Amino acid sequence: MTAPRRPADSLVTVSVRDTDWEGVRLHVVTGKGGTGKTTVAAALALALASNGRPVLLMEVEGRQGIAQLFDVPPLPYEERRVAVAPADDGRPGGDVFALAVDPQSALIEYLEMFYNLRSAGRALTRLGVLDFATTIAPGLADVLLTGKAAEAVRRRADGRPVYGAVVMDAPPTGRISRFLNVSAEISGLARAGPIRGHAETVRSVIRSPQTAVHFVTLLEEMPVQETIDGITELREVSGGGIQAGGIFVNMVRAGWSPGAMPVLDGPERDAQALAVALKAAGLGEDPELAADLAAELHDEARTRRAQQEQRRRLEAAGQPCYELPLIPDEIDLAALYKLAEAMREQGAA
Ligand SMILES: Nc1ncnc2c1ncn2[C@@H]1O[C@H](COP(=O)(O)OP(=O)(O)O)[C@@H](O)[C@H]1O
Ligand SMILES: [Mg+2]
Repeated sequence: MTAPRRPADSLVTVSVRDTDWEGVRLHVVTGKGGTGKTTVAAALALALASNGRPVLLMEVEGRQGIAQLFDVPPLPYEERRVAVAPADDGRPGGDVFALAVDPQSALIEYLEMFYNLRSAGRALTRLGVLDFATTIAPGLADVLLTGKAAEAVRRRADGRPVYGAVVMDAPPTGRISRFLNVSAEISGLARAGPIRGHAETVRSVIRSPQTAVHFVTLLEEMPVQETIDGITELREVSGGGIQAGGIFVNMVRAGWSPGAMPVLDGPERDAQALAVALKAAGLGEDPELAADLAAELHDEARTRRAQQEQRRRLEAAGQPCYELPLIPDEIDLAALYKLAEAMREQGAA
């Protein structure tokens, strides 16, 4: 379905796709709130599942955004199939599973895994001890959430990974560096024992080439600035240890390509020219309409120029940029497929 991106691909073999994130298995999606983080994470999960392997899409903020998006009942702490990716190159698409992770359930599961303590975990929850634990050990909640992602990435069955990839709808840009870097604090807190071992494992997965942190933005000043700051902060906080991924420029309106921008003379002269053109086209003499049209043209041109400037700033950040179209209607599965296809065409998955 998707054409090979580079001509050289077709010389090798048609079925081998060249994507920008070869080898990445944990895709962390962040961005300024409201820019489309959840939508982009879901579309990315579908795009990755088109490679034929199952993908896990997880959310960590207790918003049930994924359930809403896929129009299914609220997700329990259990992996549920929510969609199937479109076929690609004649190969059937993989399943997309979804999971809503919360720190308490993750801790209970963790206690069971390491101590066979499920019932103890339940009792602790009832007594409110877990809230207490996550309060006195800030960062414990984060490591439990990232820990679940690391576990899903590492999980194997029949000698191979259960999931081809894991996509995390992560906290917003302002919190992402601390969220991902927390295992360092936990390691310092728990000097020995399984929690420390667990934290070290999580840390090594997040700081490996298997993990990339993608940013979602709009072509507007504020979210672009947050993206640039977020990338810088990620590098600084992690000492370059956490890989920044791609920039997903969301809700891009179709329109003039930069090269096809009309040459404008100024609202008055353009209004005159438009009036002449309208008359020539048999649309009558209507100087007011011509003036309105000219004003709109100039407005649009101003917006486009501002967007071009934001594009340039994003490109200067040095990460691959992908543009996703503005979907005019409600985002349903068909819309997610469309966004997933745009991602694949541009080499994001
Ligand atoms: N490409 C798009 N085109 C049109 N609407 C979009 C697009 N991406 C997201 N939206 C809409 O924008 C709103 C915010 O998206 P959402 O994914 O919930 O953002 P976030 O998770 O960052 O808060 C939702 O109403 C969603 O349907
Ligand atoms: Mg969201």
